[in-house]
Amino acid sequence: MAGKMVFSCTICRKSAGNDLRFMSSWWNHVEPAPKDPILGVTEAFLADTSPNKVNVGVGAYRDDKGKPVVLECVRQAERRISGNEKMEYLPMGGSVKMVEETLKLAYGENSDLIKDKRIAGVQALSGTGACRLFADFQKRFRPESQIYIPTPTWANHLNIWRDAQVPQRTFHYYHPESRGLDFAALMDDVKNAPNGSFFLLHACAHNPTGVDPSEEQWKEISYQFKAKNHFAFFDMAYQGFASGDPERDARAIRIFLEDGHMIGCAQSYAKNMGLYGQRVGCLSIVCEDEKQAVAVKSQLQQIARPMYSNPPVHGALLVSTILSDPDLKKLWLKEVKVMADRIIGMRTALRESLEKLGSPLSWEHITNQIGMFCYSGMSPEQVDRLTQEFHIYMTRNGRISMAGVTTGNVGYLANAIHEVSFVGGQKLYLAIKVTSLFSFL
Ligand SMILES: Cc1ncc(COP(=O)(O)O)c(C=O)c1O
Repeated sequence: MAGKMVFSCTICRKSAGNDLRFMSSWWNHVEPAPKDPILGVTEAFLADTSPNKVNVGVGAYRDDKGKPVVLECVRQAERRISGNEKMEYLPMGGSVKMVEETLKLAYGENSDLIKDKRIAGVQALSGTGACRLFADFQKRFRPESQIYIPTPTWANHLNIWRDAQVPQRTFHYYHPESRGLDFAALMDDVKNAPNGSFFLLHACAHNPTGVDPSEEQWKEISYQFKAKNHFAFFDMAYQGFASGDPERDARAIRIFLEDGHMIGCAQSYAKNMGLYGQRVGCLSIVCEDEKQAVAVKSQLQQIARPMYSNPPVHGALLVSTILSDPDLKKLWLKEVKVMADRIIGMRTALRESLEKLGSPLSWEHITNQIGMFCYSGMSPEQVDRLTQEFHIYMTRNGRISMAGVTTGNVGYLANAIHEVSFVGGQKLYLAIKVTSLFSFL
């Protein structure tokens, strides 16, 4: 087809050879890709000149002045490694020290699985890279399998497993009416899936809904997974961001481990260490014994090798420096809690502001939900009004990034939400359409 295009063009025919116009015809058929929903929101926000503009679309932590934050523990680690850092390649599996420390966060400081060397763990390009590596591994070694993904989920999950060519199924998760978990439907889907299915679970602070199962519900889910011999792949992008305590936020994983599940887990330091652009994370897979773990790890490395050869060194060094030093680790834990507490405080402030405005609607879900996001229940049309009339930017699924809410803008935000929650003064609340849940980040 490319050859046909080349010779139908007179310019190309005359000057075929080194002419750039000839070369350009190779890509004439390439259409611009659709805009990424979240990056589109940020672009629109940046282009807006209003002094009142507010960005609650971006999934990155901001301080109470709306500014990006570099943690003090990271600054201190940077000073320690400055001048000593080598620029050599890491092994294909990444920094052994960083992986060791990271596994302790997910599996527990005194985990027998770690002692028995039963976990295949490799450094990954943050949480996204960890998920992708797993999806490719799943395709290569369980080519017949599918992945069950919650409705809704972080939109990139769909891209990741699609590009790894793993067929996708969905399972019920969010209940729009209660703005909580649809536990009964979730359990039905778990029971009805073929034995031995792969499920993607958010370990804590579910994105975009902010709705997590309770401890009791996790226990029931784990029990049913055992009965059905399902595989649980945990995406843990927000450890520490839900409760302020990384140990507590690993509870779901620990419940599954107590029940003897051989899980997979993606970890990220983007949010909880603020290392967004460093792209540092970890993929781990629990194996039957050390021999199997060695084999699995070697295959994960084989998948990484032709994609990026080996992962970047700087972020891994920051993480291993922080987590292997008791003082820096203590400082990190304190700083994670400060971030989580600020978000929890803003949830209360937003809910109280809406209630003070006399909104007859229930805003309880703002404080019931957990983590970085509040799934407000606003419809895409209501979100459009927020943007057009109030210069407030968020994804059209009504997801508010609580990290962008500050003491300075919470009143303005509440007032705007109150305004758009009513249609023509008729106090008619537009419920979110379930069909729109999947389309956005
Ligand atoms: C649920 C979930 N998983 C994974 C990620 C991956 O983030 P990163 O690749 O920056 O670690 C995110 C980021 O928004 C997320 O929300």
